[in-house]
Amino acid sequence: QKPIKVALLGCGTVGTEVVRLLTDHAADLTARVGAPVELAGIAVRRPNKHREVPAELLTTDAQALVSSPDVDVVVEVIGGIEPTRTLLLQALRAGKSVVTANKALLAEHSGELFEAADGTGADLYFEAAVAGAIPLIRPLRESLAGDRITRVMGIVNGTTNFILSGMDSTGASYGETLEEATRLGYAEADPTADVDGFDAASKAAILASLAFHTRVTAADVHREGIAQVSAADIAAAKGLGRTVKLLAICERVTENGSESVSVRVHPAMIPRTHPLAGVNGAFNAVFVEADAAGEMMFYGKGAGGAPTASAVLGDLVAVARNRVVSGRGPRESAYAALPVRPMGQT
Ligand code: HSE
Repeated sequence: QKPIKVALLGCGTVGTEVVRLLTDHAADLTARVGAPVELAGIAVRRPNKHREVPAELLTTDAQALVSSPDVDVVVEVIGGIEPTRTLLLQALRAGKSVVTANKALLAEHSGELFEAADGTGADLYFEAAVAGAIPLIRPLRESLAGDRITRVMGIVNGTTNFILSGMDSTGASYGETLEEATRLGYAEADPTADVDGFDAASKAAILASLAFHTRVTAADVHREGIAQVSAADIAAAKGLGRTVKLLAICERVTENGSESVSVRVHPAMIPRTHPLAGVNGAFNAVFVEADAAGEMMFYGKGAGGAPTASAVLGDLVAVARNRVVSGRGPRESAYAALPVRPMGQT
């Protein structure tokens, strides 16, 4: 079977892990996809800074890599709006499938990207864009597509959750806890996107679009960050049997007989008995309510190279398989690798 050729755009924390998983899991991926999955090239800005990946794959010309006729799938982990938007539109319009972790881009331009994908029948997958390793996009987009989701509410930013749960457990101030988060590498040198809620707002826009089958952009999301949350607020919440979390809340609302979608990100006091109250440190969790399914919660690692790469690889398997057997799901040969122990042996 002809290999599926992948162009990787970006090779930072997530990209490096994508390359490692593609290499380490090559035999398993071949079985799951039904064809080998091979890197055609890796576009980076400074090739001499990437000694951990094969030098012959590195290029600074992302545009040429994306347009190469050899490339079947583009995996984007650069982030930002441009030149990423142009590159991905170009790939989709040429019929190449795209896997992206780019929440900011999807929260602003998903309509345009989906139109381009629809035009050629290319796949556009983005599990890694919200809550890292946690399967959430596909459950909303596929598993729950026959249900009617009423609310999606979650902790979708690890940095702010690390800070708020740290303040809750130590009683320290916002400033002190932010400093610790920076020292431990949880918060970026410029923490604005996280602490002011921009990152969570992009993720909320993506989740709301999927849950309610509509187009929500980051500009539609009411946004409030955590910088004003004081040690006194946290102590007051504790006194009421509550804790403070930065929540992304996406709801179906009915007013005067007409329905609409409300999407907001803000700190909220929640009862300590709520499942989201037990989500501490840099973890993410999303609580979903649907008419028929009822309540469910998705929980796990929402950031970091390996967890995010896990979600990217899952998408890559799906889009690569679609190119080999067009959406038929895992084939029998994908199950043949590991022997099962005879009964009675533990
Ligand atoms: N800065 C993000 C977070 C990374 O803290 O959750 C994952 O999108």
